[in-house]
Amino acid sequence: MTEADFVPDRPEDLPDSGSSKWRAPSNIALVKYWGKKKGQIPTNPSVSFTLDNSATLTELRFKRTDKVTGLPAFEVFLQGQPAPYFAPKIRSFFERILPYQPFIAQYHFEIHTENTFPHSSGIASSASGMAALALCLMDMEKSLFPSMDEDFFYQKASFLARLGSGSAARSIRGKLVHWGKQDSVPGSSDLYGIPYPLKVAPLFGSFQDTILLVDKGEKQVSSTQGHGLMKDHPFAISRFTQARSNIDALQPILQEGDLTSFIALVESEALTLHAMMMTSMPYFMLMKAGTLQIIERIWEYRRSNGEPVCFTLDAGANVHLLYPKASQVSVHTFVERELLPFCQGGEHLRDRVGNGAERC
Ligand code: PMV
Repeated sequence: MTEADFVPDRPEDLPDSGSSKWRAPSNIALVKYWGKKKGQIPTNPSVSFTLDNSATLTELRFKRTDKVTGLPAFEVFLQGQPAPYFAPKIRSFFERILPYQPFIAQYHFEIHTENTFPHSSGIASSASGMAALALCLMDMEKSLFPSMDEDFFYQKASFLARLGSGSAARSIRGKLVHWGKQDSVPGSSDLYGIPYPLKVAPLFGSFQDTILLVDKGEKQVSSTQGHGLMKDHPFAISRFTQARSNIDALQPILQEGDLTSFIALVESEALTLHAMMMTSMPYFMLMKAGTLQIIERIWEYRRSNGEPVCFTLDAGANVHLLYPKASQVSVHTFVERELLPFCQGGEHLRDRVGNGAERC
């Protein structure tokens, strides 16, 4: 598929009004995306677990308008309240998707959105938010072109979501999603995410993720700035090569359920992501003291207890604790006793691998 395949024909008929609602999950990358080219094309492929409980619910209400200005008019509401601070991000999303959904220019949209995780929990809602909105827009497109098949529907939803926020391309399907062209991954593309097409041991399908909220504040450096700093980064080329080789190394690990190698690869990816931040110019650091304390406790717990738990990190201070379902009882006790003191207000979220977005 190329970009041109996502440009639709001229629809015969446009509805006057309608609505659509989707719930799209957040995701956590195992092999990280950090660095992009024009049009949100990733500089290396990535793989993520789709989450289950952390999600955005978005309802898109649309009405045809006579005042066509080139871009759709819209209003955004978060938890029922006007949320004009989201407008710039959504406007630029509409600008980017316009060549692929030109009909949107004829509409006025009301976007009603809410997150299942607390607002300002330090969990980025851009992946789940953009994915939910893209899916609503695909419902609209499907009503114009009813013969559209399901594969195309989801591919294009991921394609559109990517234009809103790169990692949103991975928030459409479950349980593991691959995004980015890689020869060893059949069907892979830089343009959209695909359900991981290779064999995966069942234990990964029920993996758990406890998200430890170390810092709920705004990040000092946005993902967009961080991706930008990879352009002249001294280690960029080696990092992109390493990510590609980790994507390949993950294949037998996932297939065989090799937890020891899984842990080593996932933790190394997380620390490499943050190492890239610390070695860019200007350099920055998103981990906090609590992040490091938690990592040390996890290592100590694993050494003394043998439980196959590991951590990963997003572009922030929060820690994702990943473990198989079989370890749930002992890991929960460990979290309560040893990790919650490092979380802001003791806050944490219990999540697990999920099946992808759902129409509501
Ligand atoms: O989707 P963005 O532009 O917010 O980038 C997010 C990148 C990381 O979360 C740090 C890594 C990833 O692959 O999700």
